[in-house]
Amino acid sequence: MKRVMRLSGEAVEGRLAAMLGWLERLADLHRDMARVLSPGSVLRRDEPMSRRTTLRVGGPADLYVEPATEKDLGEALGLARAQGVPVLVLGRGSNLLVRDGGLRAMVVSLAQPAFSRIEAAEGRLRCGAGATLRQVAMAARDAGLGGMEFLEGIPGSVGGALRMNAGAMGGWMFDVVETLRWMDEQGQVHEVAGGEAGAQYRGCPLLRGRVALGAVLRGVASGRAEIEARLAESNRKRWTTQPRQPSAGCTFKNPRPDLPAGRLIDELGLKGMRVGDAMVSDVHGNFLVNLGGAKAADVLELVRRVSERAWAERGVELEPEVEIVGEEEASE
Ligand code: EPU
Repeated sequence: MKRVMRLSGEAVEGRLAAMLGWLERLADLHRDMARVLSPGSVLRRDEPMSRRTTLRVGGPADLYVEPATEKDLGEALGLARAQGVPVLVLGRGSNLLVRDGGLRAMVVSLAQPAFSRIEAAEGRLRCGAGATLRQVAMAARDAGLGGMEFLEGIPGSVGGALRMNAGAMGGWMFDVVETLRWMDEQGQVHEVAGGEAGAQYRGCPLLRGRVALGAVLRGVASGRAEIEARLAESNRKRWTTQPRQPSAGCTFKNPRPDLPAGRLIDELGLKGMRVGDAMVSDVHGNFLVNLGGAKAADVLELVRRVSERAWAERGVELEPEVEIVGEEEASE
């Protein structure tokens, strides 16, 4: 149902002024960044987030930047701060739901090679935030390092996995983090021990509002055949228990260790429930999949309906695990 609002002349004027102010600050920020960033950086206006998230929904980000170097990243953060433009750091977009009206923000992606390197030495991997977890798992195999096989099937980047303390198959990102590097709002780089980051189930308080730059991961010397077998098992489990259609992975946090959200949704008989092209996966109840033409609003309505049923029928409050950001689409 669309909300109909009548605004007074003053309120309309106020909104117009705010919008014009925003457009001016954005234009200034774009101009300053174009001047300062090195030629390898990517800078764009109105980047559709449906192309940058695995769920394949979401409106445009007002500004999108892929810095070529840490210096460029620091400059971008400083300029955005000076203009009062919010910053959102994108990983692989696999845990993100952007609303259809898009993001009034500067989206930063660490997709350039300077942020994606992986170097192996002395039982450790030094990984950039932009490297994918699959690349990390493969590098660990090649270096004869066990204990990182679980990363293979998580469709994320190192940076995203640090922010979320991503986990799968009984392993957690922070189990293997020896140290992590991050950049603060002023562009200063810090390095701390993994144990000091306060990592918890699906979260890392230290990195809130900050940019993960990378981590040193520690493995356990293992034989190649052993690692290959664990990789294959993780892969097999994933493909038999999780859907292949576009999704943002698990939608809700597990309410309790003994009550996985997927099982609860399954028991409630909600698999296959649809809103438009958004559907509760018939493979795993905690995955909401995009059958092709879903809008963010469809997915969010499905989130609402599933949560409502869990509360009404089981008294369980489901909390989204997926990060939900952005503006609703303006209704005419
Ligand atoms: N189950 C059902 N029906 C379903 C889905 C699951 O009965 O539709 C049952 C399973 O049979 C199993 C239990 O629920 O007994 C748990 O299921 P699963 O092993 O798939 O694990 P999960 O708790 O649902 C967690 C993570 C996943 C991760 C898997 C694999 C959360 C919210 N989810 O899922 O992470 O891949 O373990 O280790 O913690 C993600 O973070 O996006 C994500 C997918």
